[in-house]
Amino acid sequence: MTSFSPRIRVGKRKENRPMSTIAIEAVNLHKRFGNVSAVNGVSFNVTEGEIFGFLGPNGAGKTTTIRILTGILRPDSGEAKIMGYDVHKDPVKARMLIGVVPEEANPYPDLSAWDNLTLVGSLYGLSKRTASERASRLLKLLDLYEVRERKARSLSKGMRQKLLVAMALIGEPKVLFLDEPTSGLDVLSAKKIRSLILDLKKNGVTVLLTTHNVEEAGELCDRIAIINGGQIVETGSPDDLMIKSGLYTYISVKFDRPINPEDAGQFFKAWEHRVQGSRILLICKESADPIVRVVEYAKARCLSIIDIHTSPPNMEDVFVKIIGG
Ligand SMILES: Nc1ncnc2c1ncn2[C@@H]1O[C@H](COP(=O)(O)OP(=O)(O)OP(=O)(O)O)[C@@H](O)[C@H]1O
Ligand SMILES: [Mg+2]
Repeated sequence: MTSFSPRIRVGKRKENRPMSTIAIEAVNLHKRFGNVSAVNGVSFNVTEGEIFGFLGPNGAGKTTTIRILTGILRPDSGEAKIMGYDVHKDPVKARMLIGVVPEEANPYPDLSAWDNLTLVGSLYGLSKRTASERASRLLKLLDLYEVRERKARSLSKGMRQKLLVAMALIGEPKVLFLDEPTSGLDVLSAKKIRSLILDLKKNGVTVLLTTHNVEEAGELCDRIAIINGGQIVETGSPDDLMIKSGLYTYISVKFDRPINPEDAGQFFKAWEHRVQGSRILLICKESADPIVRVVEYAKARCLSIIDIHTSPPNMEDVFVKIIGG
């Protein structure tokens, strides 16, 4: 994939922007719709350059939280800040720093893909030339250049979704909110968006992402918050969540000769285990340690490892366990 480089001047501070390495700050957010408590005391911080996943079942409060953080919706109480600016007290400064791919949105149907993009560029105050350069680059990157003159209404759902991603990026935001950005995309396009998100991270962009593709979140995110019923129930790196879920990794190792069950039992006493001739089955909660221990065990006894199979819990199991499914 062509590398997209937003050329963001990380660290260059034009105005008296409050010092902050926290890019997104949610403090005790509450929002009710009638008798539905959509967001009920949500607090979290996302540091600059992090990819933060926001996962939860349908109706958990993800989109409502994003709408509050992007200044579209006022919370009943709580604070939302972007790079230190309060989204509701200092809306213009906060909004100039963000790009959003909303959950349900459409480009202007009667404008071409090109005009949609350059229009958003002008809203960010870009010169015509800069907007055109960026529009070309983004349209090429997202395989939309060939359809740039077509009206948005005539584009396929996936094409429109990619156009929304381009529209969110044309202002070269420092903080990007993506509400299910790969929903409705084919495998290749989804892969391209994931790769684009990682490229943006390399350029110091902070990303808050919701997705129902839990494996995608595990692959992309530095940290994940799991929200259920308007409340965050767990936060951590994908590995942390795996450990917190209490699910097991199964490891089966075959050596080149039978092993001594008592000696193996002593060495692997931290984990449940079973020895059968030259094979040992280990059941453990840690995600990385066991292989290192197995290699240590083999080395100290001059054993060769013939084969090794690990089956860690997948992110979907972890998610289901944490939300109590
Ligand atoms: N404008 C609204 N008016 C009334 N209720 C709303 C409104 N927006 C959201 N809700 C309710 O708030 C709750 C949280 O909705 P939200 O859209 O934030 O969930 P979500 O986590 O984004 O779900 P999904 O995964 O389906 O997108 C739901 O019960 C929803 O019905
Ligand atoms: Mg949603």
